[in-house]
Amino acid sequence: MSTRGQGEANRSMDYESYEHDVLVIGAGGAGLRAAIEASSAGVSVGLVCKSLLGKAHTVMAEGGMAAALANVDDRDDWKVHFADTMRGGQYLNNWRMAELHAQEAPARARELEAWGAVFDRTKDGRILQRNFGGHKYPRLAHVGDRTGLEMIRTLQDHGIHQGIDVHMECTIVELLKDGDRVVGAFGYDRERGRFQLFSARAVVLASGGIGRAFKVTSNSWEYTGDGHALAYRAGADLMDMEFVQFHPTGMVWPPSVRGILVTEGVRGEGGVLRNSNGKRFMFEDIPDLYLSSTADDEEEGWRYTQGDKNSRRPPELLTRDHVARCIVREIKEGRGSPHQGVFLDIAWIKERLPNGAEHIKKKLPSMYHQFKQLAGIDITEEPMEVGPTTHYVMGGIRVDPDSQMSTVPGLFAAGECAAGLHGANRLGGNSLSDLLVFGQRAGQYAASFAKEQGAASINQGQVEEVARQALEPFERGEGNVEGPYQVQFDLQDMMQAQVGIVRTEGDIQKAIDEFPTLRSRADRVGVQGNREYNAGWHTALDLRNLLMVAEAVARSAILRRESRGAHFREDYLQKDAEQGKLNTVVRLDSSGEMQVKQEALPPVRGDLQEIIEDNK
Ligand code: FUM
Repeated sequence: MSTRGQGEANRSMDYESYEHDVLVIGAGGAGLRAAIEASSAGVSVGLVCKSLLGKAHTVMAEGGMAAALANVDDRDDWKVHFADTMRGGQYLNNWRMAELHAQEAPARARELEAWGAVFDRTKDGRILQRNFGGHKYPRLAHVGDRTGLEMIRTLQDHGIHQGIDVHMECTIVELLKDGDRVVGAFGYDRERGRFQLFSARAVVLASGGIGRAFKVTSNSWEYTGDGHALAYRAGADLMDMEFVQFHPTGMVWPPSVRGILVTEGVRGEGGVLRNSNGKRFMFEDIPDLYLSSTADDEEEGWRYTQGDKNSRRPPELLTRDHVARCIVREIKEGRGSPHQGVFLDIAWIKERLPNGAEHIKKKLPSMYHQFKQLAGIDITEEPMEVGPTTHYVMGGIRVDPDSQMSTVPGLFAAGECAAGLHGANRLGGNSLSDLLVFGQRAGQYAASFAKEQGAASINQGQVEEVARQALEPFERGEGNVEGPYQVQFDLQDMMQAQVGIVRTEGDIQKAIDEFPTLRSRADRVGVQGNREYNAGWHTALDLRNLLMVAEAVARSAILRRESRGAHFREDYLQKDAEQGKLNTVVRLDSSGEMQVKQEALPPVRGDLQEIIEDNK
């Protein structure tokens, strides 16, 4: 094609149109579960995914799905799970979501089994459950260390047979509105770069997280905060964006794999953390909140991981925020491993178990292969080097706890992109159950909403404007143009350094001051070539979302002058009772500015407060 012809093709605003009753954006666990539910309610469903079906961050929840099935410890029930979730979230959770989640997770796990998920088994043939940080009893239903993968496989299989229309490799750039109501979405297919318009009576966002706003992350390239940013621009509230979870254990070496997840399941199976002096440093700093439930010697901690009901959990299974900060302390104070991490040792269990090496390979097959192939390390023989990695955002779209509808009619959200369930810190394993419980609810309520609505009316003016904006990177001339990758790298560097695991007012303010420059650089980003397979163009379009979510994190973080859960302020080390009653809300105001303020949490219902007290 001539340059002229190519220019014309790049400028084409033509689009393909699709119509569904319910459009689900995101095809991880929450999106698939929502699509299945909506489809079984008898409405037509379209499912959009940014990459190929089956490739979702859900697979990075490796160690299991939390559900109080009580298969391994019969003292467990939904009340204990509820209390653990609230304590883990430092009581900033939406209590109604925590209640529904704890009550409904067991049914969702059994349903998944009925649909074909092959869980590991107890000796008497029930779903096996393992220990994880912050859970009082062994609660994680698991499939070795591939639980998320098995969940996606099962849901995908089930969903496909239900006749859901799947639109793969499609990025949504804007939600479409008719008055106040969301009535569809506009995007493009990543292969050919052609525009696609989806009209729908209800839209469910299930687009996952924002990990790509940071330099070191377990998230893959898709997680650029798209759902958060789409909802925000459509007028929905975001909530608690300061709470970003740094999983304590990601790979640190070699550099090309830095950030890849090392499942908490390693610690659940008896793995211990040591510093360069060989010391189990987690024994040194046990928060008051957990003193009575944490082992104070190695023997007791080991017995716990082996299912001894009378022992207490090892300190490596304290909540993620705490473990991550202890690791950072060891590294900062010069007791880290050679590549700026600490040691995670599962090989030591061979001293206790005669068939230790085989046991490790059976329980943690992916970890065994991951380290063998990527780092040349045999984890049955040597310790791993690990350090914190950005893994999950607790903050997200504010939703009604029962229906999952956002503050914008017709727009629902479920899974990581929705806020509320996890409060200030998510317990490991609560994400897979979250996806199923609230994916199911979002699908159910979106289908009912769709049935009640008249046909959607698409505003052609909005469509043309969105298409025009999406093509701008091709239009920018030669001079004063920047490539998208450098802006993205600079943003990631800045967020990691200034708004990472340990925060101060000065650092956060520096980040906030940098956003106008980053935004104007993003506005000058230009791309070359045509619309087919154009990764530069995709990155240029993702940048707007990344900048938006990163700014929401920074502005929320500066407002919360206390340390709570995943939000750790070196200048405000303690929890503050008053701030503990407030959620942070982010909203786009009518002048196009980001508005951030704190709002009172709804008071916990009396019977639930009693459960919390009983389980302290
Ligand atoms: O460590 C893990 O396997 C991650 C689980 C989760 O984030 O829930």
